[in-house]
Amino acid sequence: MNIVLMGLPGAGKGTQADKIVEKYDIPHISTGDMFRAAIKDGTELGLKAKSFMDQGALVPDEVTIGIVRERLSKADCEDGFLLDGFPRTVPQAEALESLLADIGKRIEHVVNIKVDQDELIARLTGRWICKVCGTAYHTVFNPPQVAGVCDKDGGELYQREDDKPDTVKNRLEVNMEQTQPLLDFYGSKGVLENINGQQDIQKVFADIDALLKGDRG
Ligand code: AP5
Repeated sequence: MNIVLMGLPGAGKGTQADKIVEKYDIPHISTGDMFRAAIKDGTELGLKAKSFMDQGALVPDEVTIGIVRERLSKADCEDGFLLDGFPRTVPQAEALESLLADIGKRIEHVVNIKVDQDELIARLTGRWICKVCGTAYHTVFNPPQVAGVCDKDGGELYQREDDKPDTVKNRLEVNMEQTQPLLDFYGSKGVLENINGQQDIQKVFADIDALLKGDRG
């Protein structure tokens, strides 16, 4: 199954992606995670991405499309994949469509997780992430059993640079501007499905799972 997970920053894409890939056994391809890994490793890609990410801006399309093209060509994507945070612009969506068409594939589900702006700000500014496995927690909505420590592997939790209040505001503005044309793009193709993201994490997953199961028959 080839899935695109959409949603504004903080909508819960990463949280739901972990659950989807575990259940459906497909690779999780997050452009944000790929950029953060490149920054950590000090690669050329990381250097390019960092200045944009630190301001809450989008990384240029040609850079982002290039890394996704390379990732989708790997053998583990043969039987399906989950794209998280890509595409984020119409040119990215068009590039994705064309590169999948070249290998006889298409996107079957575009799942858009919808959450109000005030809730997004509260979620992003309270988010803590595991340094080891990347699991996201929230000080109020989804706290770890022990403050500052990951439930899964005991890793230390940290706050992302771009979760600072000023950067969060800009990230939301930039993403909101790009989102509607993208929703129109996928809506016109009949693959867009909206999910209410302002529910308990398990309920959001149950709703996503129900629509993905529909595809499996
Ligand atoms: P990326 O890493 O993709 O960040 P984002 O889109 O801003 O999304 P987030 O990771 O912040 O949020 P999320 O939706 O995954 O929410 P989460 O599950 O963590 O991108 C970062 C940057 O990289 C971009 O700004 C850009 O610069 C660059 N980039 C990436 N892709 C790009 C592209 N395609 N083109 C150009 N540039 C690109 O949840 C958030 C919090 O809420 C957590 O604390 C969580 O525990 C909590 N939570 C989750 N669900 C619920 C719930 N149902 N109820 C209550 N709390 C919840």
